[in-house]
Amino acid sequence: MASKNESILIMDFGGQYSQLIARHVRECHVYCELKSYQISAEEIKSSGYRGIIFTGGPNSTYDENAPKCDPKIFQLDIPVLGICYGAQLMAQTLGGKVRSSDTKEYGKTEIECNTSSLIFHAAKEKSICWMSHTDYISEVPHGFKITAISESCPVAAMEDIKRHFFALQFHPEVNHTQEGMLYLQNFLYNACGCTAEWQMDSFVKETIKSLKITIGDKKVLCALSGGVDSSVAALLVHKAVGKQLTCIFVDHGLLRKDEGDQVEQIFRKQFDMNLIRVNAQERFLSKLSGVTEPEEKRKIIGEEFIRVFEDEAKKLGRIEYLCQGTIYPDVVESGTGEAAVIKSHHNVGGLPADVGFEGILEPLRDLFKDEVRQAGLELGIPEFLVWRQPFPGPGLAVRILGDITEEKLDLLKDADAILREEFASAGLDRRVNQYFAVLTGIRSVGVMGDGRTYDNTIALRAVTTDDFMTADWARVPYDVLEKISNRIINEVPHVNRVVYDITSKPPATIEWE
Ligand code: XMP
Repeated sequence: MASKNESILIMDFGGQYSQLIARHVRECHVYCELKSYQISAEEIKSSGYRGIIFTGGPNSTYDENAPKCDPKIFQLDIPVLGICYGAQLMAQTLGGKVRSSDTKEYGKTEIECNTSSLIFHAAKEKSICWMSHTDYISEVPHGFKITAISESCPVAAMEDIKRHFFALQFHPEVNHTQEGMLYLQNFLYNACGCTAEWQMDSFVKETIKSLKITIGDKKVLCALSGGVDSSVAALLVHKAVGKQLTCIFVDHGLLRKDEGDQVEQIFRKQFDMNLIRVNAQERFLSKLSGVTEPEEKRKIIGEEFIRVFEDEAKKLGRIEYLCQGTIYPDVVESGTGEAAVIKSHHNVGGLPADVGFEGILEPLRDLFKDEVRQAGLELGIPEFLVWRQPFPGPGLAVRILGDITEEKLDLLKDADAILREEFASAGLDRRVNQYFAVLTGIRSVGVMGDGRTYDNTIALRAVTTDDFMTADWARVPYDVLEKISNRIINEVPHVNRVVYDITSKPPATIEWE
């Protein structure tokens, strides 16, 4: 059973690793939900959570506006694990003391733990953890025992085994914490009694079953982009109701080389889906003609996408449901809305809800990306598509600096295809999270044979990242870069220079526009 009965609540106090905690809990095959710290004890009780995790956060517990939890939470008889700020908040709320130190304890730190405590069961006595705090718990509340210390932290962990309250000053969710997953598992399985019920094969079966019931004999429409999310969402609906689902694939002509044909091949031929491919390159290129400003490009593409989709949908008559590939991070992120807008990541395929449907189906609403991928594999989607690197909705339009023409698109598609081929043959395609070519809009002087050239510069971009919010440039071996450069110069006309982008994010972004 992919059961949500054994659900864990993660109370978000604004920590940078909150989603990471949730992803790790899911990796332990336990369902969890990330909610604001403002959730009330009544709501928690009625939702039947098996356990609660308090995340870290940027505040001091004694700041005037520090986020606090409903103190009645500690009377619900539900196990609680506090992490970093969450640990300090637990200590302070239950009568312990938190102090500010002159120095920050930051980075990899050795802790010494009591392995007879619940959280450290089967753990090593000494192990490396990731610390990031200035405040610390100086006095544990009544009923608590200190279960770990570090050189500069008198309470690296504490627990009250009777009431099932646990606190860790360090971050078990961060990879640098060597045995972090074990500590989390001990909390989930031994304190909360969870049994690893959350499994993707059952999720797929149960979702198909419930989609069948929801949809009945009605019709469904889906905007398929060929990306992982919309593909998995569409396939779940297809398995549930077959030809009652129609997918519209708007090919805006800004996709990578041969990508449009691949999407058609997989979904129409392999899965026998009702698929309408709209070849709309001309329509998009004419709207984009002469446009150079990145945000303007995004806006035009987003709007035109909706128009093309609506034109096609109208031809199909009455359709009751719209299926969308919304995933859990979209749900959580749109709930907070605190981040500054650097780029309007208009998700092509994200359609306004008012297109006149009776209902919206979002079968992936509860899943993280890794889980979507697993579900995709369960459904038989080819690996290369399931593991495909992210591709922005506006496509190559944001990888051609300046205005967009068919000639520039063709040139970039060829250069990008070479880069991808060489990454695949060097086995870098799974190790590097995103990689692509950019047509920089720079022309420079070169020499080919005996003649002078004045031609285009292609930039190669390749990054490693966990979450795409920050990224590092990939240390691609020189011989791979050399081969890509040689091939692009020799095989793609009008390119006489290839450069490699060695900027991390921040300060740069991953895309050039
Ligand atoms: P940046 O360039 O902001 O990109 O570092 C972070 C991730 O988002 C992708 N990206 C987009 N995705 N519409 C999208 O659907 C967009 O307009 C867009 N812009 C960037 C980018 O490819 C990277 O994975």
